Order: sequence, then C-alpha cells, then structure tokens
Amino acid sequence: MSESQPDRDERYHGRRRGRPLRKLRTALLETLLPRLAVDRPAPGSRLDPASLFPHPVAEVWLEIGFGGGEHLAAQAAAHPAIGFVGCEPFLNGIAGLLTHIDSRNLANVRIYPDDARPLLDALPDASIGRCFVLFGDPWPKQRHRERRFVGPANLDRLARILKPGAELRLASDDPVLIAWMIDHAWHHPAFEWLAEGPQDWRTRPADWPPTRYEQKAITAGRRPVFLRFRRRF
Ligand SMILES: C[S@@+](CC[C@H](N)C(=O)[O-])C[C@H]1O[C@@H](n2cnc3c(N)ncnc32)[C@H](O)[C@@H]1O
Repeated sequence: MSESQPDRDERYHGRRRGRPLRKLRTALLETLLPRLAVDRPAPGSRLDPASLFPHPVAEVWLEIGFGGGEHLAAQAAAHPAIGFVGCEPFLNGIAGLLTHIDSRNLANVRIYPDDARPLLDALPDASIGRCFVLFGDPWPKQRHRERRFVGPANLDRLARILKPGAELRLASDDPVLIAWMIDHAWHHPAFEWLAEGPQDWRTRPADWPPTRYEQKAITAGRRPVFLRFRRRF
C-alpha cells in the first residue's frame, strides 16, 4: 500500500489479479459485486458514506487493504448497525470478501474495488468512525518507503475523515514498517497512541478478528503487533 499521490499505477498497491478464480467466486464478481461496489468518485466530488447503505447506519467504518476480507466480514457480522466500506484493488481478495458476504448474508458491507486514496479524498471531514489498515505492504527497501500506506500524506487524509475520538487500527509483523508507522502516527498531531503498557501491542484485542497475513506471520515465526491510535478531539 502506498501513501503518496493517488494514481492508478499498480506499483503502488501490488497486483490486481492472482490465481484463476473458482466458479462461485467468478459468479459473485459478476452478480454480487455490481450491487455492492462503490464507484470511483469524480475528482473534487464529495461522497457521504452513510448514503451507500439502503438503511440508516450508526456509523461508517473503513478497512483499507482488506485482503481476503475475513476481518472485515467478522467485524460486519459483529456490528450489524455499522456500515462497512472495504477498499481493495486485488480481485482475488474482493472475491474472497464476496464469499463471506454471501455465506453470512451480510447487508452492511460495501466494496471500493480500487486504490483507497481517491475515496478518502472524496469523504467528508469527520465522516468515519473507525479505520483499519492491517498488515499493509511493508515496502522494505528504503527507496520504496514512500509507497508504505501509513505515512504523512495518508495520515493527513485519515486525520481529516476520522471523527474526533475515532480509532485507527494498524497491524504489522514487519519491524521496519512497525517502526515507520509508529514514528509517523506518534508524531502526527491528530493522533494519540492508545497503548496501555509495554506488552499491550503484542496482544490482539478480543474485538479484533485475525487476518490471513497475521496467520501467515505467526506460522512463519514472526510476532505481529496491534496498534490502536485515536483521532484527538
Ligand atoms: C499484505 S496484504 C494484507 C491483507 C489483509 N489486510 C491481511 O491482513 O490479510 C496488503 C493488501 O493491501 C492492499 N492494498 C495495497 N495498497 C492499497 C491501496 N492503496 N488501497 C487499497 N488497498 C491497498 C493490497 O492489494 C493487499 O491486498
């Protein structure tokens, strides 16, 4: 995931397609995605996220780079009064989320199947109640660091759209990215870190379902961290 200017260059968010999709997934992309997809907003336009849902929602929460969608689907099932918008350009991941939405009959999820940044720019100030960026692409090389999603430009975007008091949840298993995210979020005037103690960030909170990349990290012997920041009032 990257954080500089929005563009459609795949270098910034990785691949759009992976392995060929199974029949059900292809069918869901053809039939369910058109009903749930959020169009790319015109430059300079505003999009009220609550208007994406056919019923009133208490708040809208955002997940950027939802991967296979397991975390987003679990959150949506646990919080039916919240409207969820997931951003993910990787088609196989979108198909994964659609299978969860279909099998769990979730009515409170919308999908932005693209680079999140143009959507963030279209959202009104203080319109999002919580945001998740979990196991973002680490871009380990120093010369690629500007592509890491959580950095100054995207923290400014998130600071603008998050409500005062809203949580920004970040996770990673990559030491370079962890240090980078903490450094930038910690020094950003709009955010405060909610760590309650030195070991707090090593334990995934009970209301934070696991993701596929977390499982991969643990299987490979890496220790993820779970970071909670709050948009200052
Ligand atoms: C390493 S994967 C992690 C997936 C998932 N969050 C997990 O923990 O299993 C990072 C994901 O972020 C997505 N991504 C990268 N840049 C993005 C961007 N600018 N907007 C939305 N999604 C992005 C990628 O397509 C990829 O699926």
